[in-house]
Parts: sequence; structure tokens; C-alpha cells
Amino acid sequence: MMPDPVDRDDPDEHLAGQRGAGPVTGADQPVTIQADGLTKRYGDAVVVDGFSLQVRTGELVVLLGGSGSGKTTTLKMINRLIEPTAGSVRLDGVDTTDLLPHELRRRIGYVFQRIGLFPHMTVGENVAVTPALLGWRPERVAARVDELLTLVELDPTLRDRRPSALSGGQQQRVGVARALAAEPRVMLLDEPFGALDPVTRERLQQSFLRIREKLALTTVFVTHDMTEALTLADRIGVMHEGRLLQLGTPRDLLTRPTDDYVDRLMSTPRRQAAAIDALLSETSAAGAAS
Ligand SMILES: Nc1ncnc2c1ncn2[C@@H]1O[C@H](COP(=O)(O)OP(=O)(O)OP(=O)(O)O)[C@@H](O)[C@H]1O
Ligand SMILES: [Mg+2]
Repeated sequence: MMPDPVDRDDPDEHLAGQRGAGPVTGADQPVTIQADGLTKRYGDAVVVDGFSLQVRTGELVVLLGGSGSGKTTTLKMINRLIEPTAGSVRLDGVDTTDLLPHELRRRIGYVFQRIGLFPHMTVGENVAVTPALLGWRPERVAARVDELLTLVELDPTLRDRRPSALSGGQQQRVGVARALAAEPRVMLLDEPFGALDPVTRERLQQSFLRIREKLALTTVFVTHDMTEALTLADRIGVMHEGRLLQLGTPRDLLTRPTDDYVDRLMSTPRRQAAAIDALLSETSAAGAAS
């Protein structure tokens, strides 16, 4: 059988997914990702247990949970980097087992935990991995690499460097650029901005939010960082010991936790916010008194 003709020559094709759609989140949007009963067992250990989730077009869902709670395993089952023991995933209504692997790679961008850039390749070659696999013409690949480096706010002249000659934050931007290379409509990101100083981290988060809005990306974003989850998410799914305990808006989780674990988890940012409020009111009281 011939592979799909993935290298269509319409010069506007790659822009079609990028036209300013603005925020498109909402209950009226179609479901892009539908996971039903995803389960992963290794021997006797059930590491993900009956995970179900619907993500609407343009929505950003954060999976939040501690180390070993099953976040990476769940994310990798969504794009079949890991084969589920049970359960199914539909992408725009089509079961992912009915999609060819190259079609899945094209439609779903994936940012790996701990970046995972290929050290022996240049930045440009890293970004171009998927387009090259899909057989794009070299001129189109080169133009796309420069466009993406600009999109993630990197100077395109960095294309010829090795990842080891970049800072941690620059490497993470390259990871995002690589995941966006084949113009996916869906992005899965596994702790993409971990291990960065808070200022750089916030800058990368804000830049990702802009990209996500511009491209109307449907996103599942994994983190164990509560502040990151609360500030980025349309909805947060809390995972613990392989199960999805609660799914709701950041406000729902903070104000109406339905589970003891979620309640305990959310008490940390509430306490931190209260401590900062107290500090600020002391400061303004001291200012008023002087
Ligand atoms: N190939 C494997 N064989 C056996 N157990 C595995 C395998 N891969 C993962 N696990 C186990 O599955 C559980 C979930 O792992 P997973 O990587 O999904 O966690 P995580 O939530 O992403 O954690 P972290 O925040 O540390 O990245 C862990 O207990 C892990 O040890
Ligand atoms: Mg993980």
C-alpha cells in the first residue's frame, strides 16, 4: 500500500492550522481527544487504572500528580508510544489503532520529559526530525525550522549549534519547536519546563500560552508543579497511584475538592497565597504607619 501523500505542495497548507483562532475553549467545541478506560499493567502492577478524559478543541488540560502517579505513562498511551493494556483513545473521533504511526506522529506533537534532544544532531536537525521522516522537501524543512525557532523566540542562527551548546531554557524551547514541526493540532507536553529557574520558567509558560492560542492547539500538559497547573490550565486532572481522582477547573479544585488527597494537595497553594497576602498587608500597614 502507498503511504499517504503527506507532502502536499500547497504553500499555504501549513498556515491553515495557524490562523489566529483566538481562545477556542468551551463546552461547545468538538471533542478532539477522547480517552476511555486507559489502563497499563506491568506484571501485577497496575500503573494506570481506568483513565478516561475528554479534551475539547483548543482546550489545555493539565495532568497534575506526584512522582510515579502515572502521568508519563498516561501521556504516552494517548499517542501510543506505550501500548495500553486496556482502553481506547479516539482522536477527532477516530480510534488511534486505525491511524498509521506516521499519521499519529504528524497530528500529535510530543515534548518529552527531560527534553530528549538528540545530542549528535544540530538544533536544526533536531527540529526537522519529523518533517524529514514525513519526506518534506529540504527547502520546506529549512524554512519551517527557521519559522519555528522564531516562534519559540530563539534566534534562527542557533540552528547549527549542538544542544550541549545551549542553556537549559533554550534546549526546552527547541524541544517545543521540534514537537510543533509537523504542524500538529494536538500537543502533549511532559514537564516541558521542569528544572528551570522560576523567571525563565514563567517566560516559557507565557510563550507557550501565546503559541497555543495562535495555533489553537489542543493540549495535555503534565506537571507536578501546582502553580504551573493553576496558572496554565483550563482544567486540571489530579492523578494519584494511577488513578484520575478529580477533573475540574483550577477554581473547582481549590474551592470544591471532592477527594481528601486533592484537598491536601490544594491546601499548599492556599497556604502560600495566604502567607503572601499576610506579608503584603503587613508591608502596606507599615507603609501607612510611617
Ligand atoms: N516499563 C515499566 N515497567 C514497570 N514499571 C514501570 C514501567 N514504566 C513505568 N513504570 C512504573 O509506573 C509508575 C508510573 O510511572 P510514570 O513514569 O507514568 O510516573 P510519572 O507520574 O510520570 O512520574 P514522574 O513525575 O516521576 O515523572 C511508576 O511506579 C513506575 O515505576
Ligand atoms: Mg513522568
